[in-house]
Amino acid sequence: MLFLSVLTTIAAVGGVNAASSFASTSDGRYQLSAAQAPVLNAANPGIDNWKFTIKEKTGKKQTVKGFGAAVTDSTVLAFNKLSATARSQLLNDLMTPSGINFSLMRHTVASSDLSADPAYTFDDGNGSVDTNLVNFNLGDRGNALASMLATMRKLQPNLTILGTPWSPPGWMKQNSKLIGGGTGSNKLNHAYENAYAQYFVKYLQTFEKAGAHIDAITIQNEPLNNKDDMPTMLVQQDESGALIRDKVGPALRAAGLSTQVWAWDHNQDVYSYPQTVMNMASQYVQAAAWHCYAGNNPSNWTPLTQFHNEFPGKEQYMTECWTAVGTTDWIHSSSFNMFPLQNWANGVIAWTLGSYTGGGPALSGGGNCHQCTGLVTVSPDGSSYKKEIDYYMMGQFSKYIPKGAVVVDGTGSYLFDDNTGMEAVGTLNPDGTRTVVIQNRYNKDIWVQVGTESESQTWNARVPALSVTSWVLPKA
Ligand SMILES: *[C@@H]1O[C@H](CO)[C@@H](O)[C@H](O)[C@H]1NC(C)=O
Ligand SMILES: *[C@@H]1O[C@H](CO)[C@@H](O)[C@H](O)[C@H]1NC(C)=O
Ligand SMILES: *[C@@H]1O[C@H](CO)[C@@H](O)[C@H](O)[C@H]1NC(C)=O
Repeated sequence: MLFLSVLTTIAAVGGVNAASSFASTSDGRYQLSAAQAPVLNAANPGIDNWKFTIKEKTGKKQTVKGFGAAVTDSTVLAFNKLSATARSQLLNDLMTPSGINFSLMRHTVASSDLSADPAYTFDDGNGSVDTNLVNFNLGDRGNALASMLATMRKLQPNLTILGTPWSPPGWMKQNSKLIGGGTGSNKLNHAYENAYAQYFVKYLQTFEKAGAHIDAITIQNEPLNNKDDMPTMLVQQDESGALIRDKVGPALRAAGLSTQVWAWDHNQDVYSYPQTVMNMASQYVQAAAWHCYAGNNPSNWTPLTQFHNEFPGKEQYMTECWTAVGTTDWIHSSSFNMFPLQNWANGVIAWTLGSYTGGGPALSGGGNCHQCTGLVTVSPDGSSYKKEIDYYMMGQFSKYIPKGAVVVDGTGSYLFDDNTGMEAVGTLNPDGTRTVVIQNRYNKDIWVQVGTESESQTWNARVPALSVTSWVLPKA
């Protein structure tokens, strides 16, 4: 009996020898829950069938750097409302393999639209010019943010963190205003471009001292987004290339910082911007960063493949796509992982990690994202938190595709005009196991068969209706 129960335990735990399946469904019936495990050559019980293949031997593509979400002032405010015990449980779920094991995060460098009023930067200098940055300080909100990132880094030692400002201090701009863009003068005052470069150096050094090492920056969130009720700044593509090549890049290196610079950080539909920045400043720029707002269908993400073909030595990241319970649909967050991965992205970052229930706090002003809800929402009194559907859908990727996995080519993904169909992406993981993440957009279970290059038969199992399902196949 003892012998038998030991065997049962091993089978249940799985590991590199057994295949397993975990699913999250649109209705929350499955939340990273065990589903029917694929078995080689298992017979279809008589339901509709779909076939994929993965090429884990001959189709190796990009290396995965991770999955995660943006830590904003709202995230920090909401999470810090929780009791220390609840917060620690939550961060453990987010940042370790016992939960969804995030390993790629983005953070706002001072305020974004997802900050409580008033907006601020790390050197507001009371509105006056401060070229030597003598008034530089993180302030309470910057310190709280650095401290949360430091905690995340302790939980996930291999964390990669990207930092992004929504605007430099107002005094560095032609309009002298942090908020109040919307005009042609919401641009950098080039008299202060050295101060601008040093602002990045000081921010990186100060976060480093706080235990929050930052791996990469983009110099401006959504550089073509010029809005009048939140911090923004217009930066044209040649200007961005020159600032990185002549000022920011050299300033980082002179300060002994190996921080990467990623280009663009805006939508998929302006290919020429990251192309120009890469052509002008490739010695400092290691990746292009893309947001989802030009659309989240397979065709919207093909510019990433185009970019890969032109710059095969560079990386790419999906660095922002919003989630909003009640507005974005169940397949949205899974799609902004699936399609970028199919098009050479090395990692994916959702917007945003945490908010109050129903969204916010956000800066006042109609154009700000009051309805953006985090992957996790916290009741404003801090008494409870909820993992929203987007937490589970991100987890279908982040929990089963470890950093260092290699995305592989495959066939079989197809969506019909009515948005039904099936999509998949496969990876070869560092321990030799293989992960296949499958979207089933049909309101019925589908019998899925995955052909591999390592086995002569297909792996077969039932994939739940309206689900994202992750198969982990053993080392071949
Ligand atoms: C800004 O002004 C306030 C009030 O006048 C003063 O207390 C504070 O020290 C000033 N801060 C800076 C950075 O100059
Ligand atoms: C960090 O990543 C390296 C490979 O990049 C791996 O060897 C190591 O085990 C990872 N460490 C942790 C704690 O995950
Ligand atoms: C968790 O993430 C770390 C860092 O990305 C990775 O090294 C590790 O393999 C992951 N753990 C599991 C169980 O996937």
